[in-house]
Amino acid sequence: PHRPYVIDEMISAKAIAARIEDLAREIRTEFADTDKLVVIGLLRGSFVFIADLVRELDLPVEVDFLEASSYGDGMESSREVRILKDLRGQIEGRDVLIVEDIVDTGHTLAHVTDYLQTRHPARLRTIALLDKPARREVDFKAYWTGFEIPDAFVVGYGIDFAQRNRNLPYIGKVRFVDDAA
Ligand code: PRP
Ligand code: MN
Ligand code: MG
Repeated sequence: PHRPYVIDEMISAKAIAARIEDLAREIRTEFADTDKLVVIGLLRGSFVFIADLVRELDLPVEVDFLEASSYGDGMESSREVRILKDLRGQIEGRDVLIVEDIVDTGHTLAHVTDYLQTRHPARLRTIALLDKPARREVDFKAYWTGFEIPDAFVVGYGIDFAQRNRNLPYIGKVRFVDDAA
């Protein structure tokens, strides 16, 4: 159903790995006194990032997941964030890190943060690998950001276009190719 497109590399796997090392250092400092940090990945987009990030965190961690969806198969946010799968564990009184692949309009992470705050974690921080500030619709900024990017439709490293390209090891930009050309 989609027009043909090619993917141009925007952030290499190497650059992502280097940035994650820096971010992990900051997170370790922030949570150095934590008994056991709950690291929560937002499915499905964050599954690659959280896997790489937790392996750089030299901290006691518990890994949990929450599934939130707003885009479906389209290129536009529905602005209606649905929680499709809730956490397995409790977070009340715990230190929590929410891991997200990208903040675009901001609806997803703003909604999930509010949703989890009602459970009264001790400390709640957010990290997003990518931030696309040009598209923001709600006032939200992740506590840590990997890369700020321009307003382009990106895929790879967990991020999909209509459920494709999540398995690319790098972040790429979608470019539609004209059939006639
Ligand atoms: C994408 C992406 C973020 C969210 C960002 O998820 O993974 O979670 O959109 O957009 P926003 O800031 O405009 O809310 P999607 O809804 O496509 O679900 P997925 O992670 O399962 O692909
Ligand atoms: Mn997502
Ligand atoms: Mg998606």
